[in-house]
Amino acid sequence: MGFLQFSLLLFTVALLTSTALSDLILSKVDRRIDLTSQIVRITSTLKVENPDSNPVSEVLVAFPERQAKNLAYLTATLHGGKGKAKTSAATLPVEVANPEGKPQGLNFYSVSLQKELVKGDSLTLDVLAVFSQALQPFPEKITQAEVQLGLFQESAHYLSPYVVKVVLPEGSRDIAVSSPFPVKQSEEVQAAVQQVDSIIYRCLTLHEKLESSLRNLSRTGDVQACKAARKTADASLKELSKELKPLMAFLQSSPAASQLLPKVEELVAKERELQERLMTKHSAVVDGYEKKSGGRDIENRVAAQQQKIAALRQELEDILEFIDEI
Ligand SMILES: *[C@@H]1O[C@H](CO)[C@@H](O)[C@H](O)[C@H]1NC(C)=O
Repeated sequence: MGFLQFSLLLFTVALLTSTALSDLILSKVDRRIDLTSQIVRITSTLKVENPDSNPVSEVLVAFPERQAKNLAYLTATLHGGKGKAKTSAATLPVEVANPEGKPQGLNFYSVSLQKELVKGDSLTLDVLAVFSQALQPFPEKITQAEVQLGLFQESAHYLSPYVVKVVLPEGSRDIAVSSPFPVKQSEEVQAAVQQVDSIIYRCLTLHEKLESSLRNLSRTGDVQACKAARKTADASLKELSKELKPLMAFLQSSPAASQLLPKVEELVAKERELQERLMTKHSAVVDGYEKKSGGRDIENRVAAQQQKIAALRQELEDILEFIDEI
């Protein structure tokens, strides 16, 4: 596929003047925008510092509404090293947030930290945002012989509710922020794989909803709401599985897809397995609540399932990364 991945070191801030937000500082922001496919992946590495004395347990990230409406997947991980540290890096829960004094036109998401960030401490977060339909064809109409360009608009400002103190490396005054690039229109296979990718990302978002409904359950004890959340997620997952069928049939029948096919099939199979395990875990937890089992008891019952889920999720993300890099 493509190669246009560029790195921006960002230096400007959009400061939101809300006193409700904590006084965290972003001391480093590195944003990589991958425009090699129809699916736009923005990875932001944020170094977050807490110079204040109050321990902080969440970090907010913000997106303009026009971007947020295309947000297919958002995940945050603690920035570990490579190898072992990387695979053990836990995905942190991300929820929609409505901080007090939230400006119009912005959507906020709250990343829950596993460990509070205390005074003088810092941590580095990798935030991956995946957008579907974020590319506009450019120009909109072309003849067959022409190369279709995609236009992606993004600003050099890093939008954050926190103060950003970033030192610019020397000589980096000119920063390219939007770049038309070629997308070969004839490559239907590529397009199909990207659609599969995008569907899997939507599945991952639904998985996260399931997890979030369990967190809600442990907070509120509302079994009915939790069951309703599972029903909704289940219906949406079934819809997505229907959407996958014609795409997979097309890929299976296309000689041009033969090399990629095993990976794509593996991706779909892993998602299915993950989905099944999540549903099993969900039922077991809800069941435990209905039977008024103790929290420890429920945890023990789903511990093995939980381990497998974490491993599968990692495998799935690795395959997605692999496919995205082709
Ligand atoms: C969890 O609870 C919050 C409010 O308490 C609600 O907005 C959200 O939709 C719930 N999530 C799920 C998946 O049920």
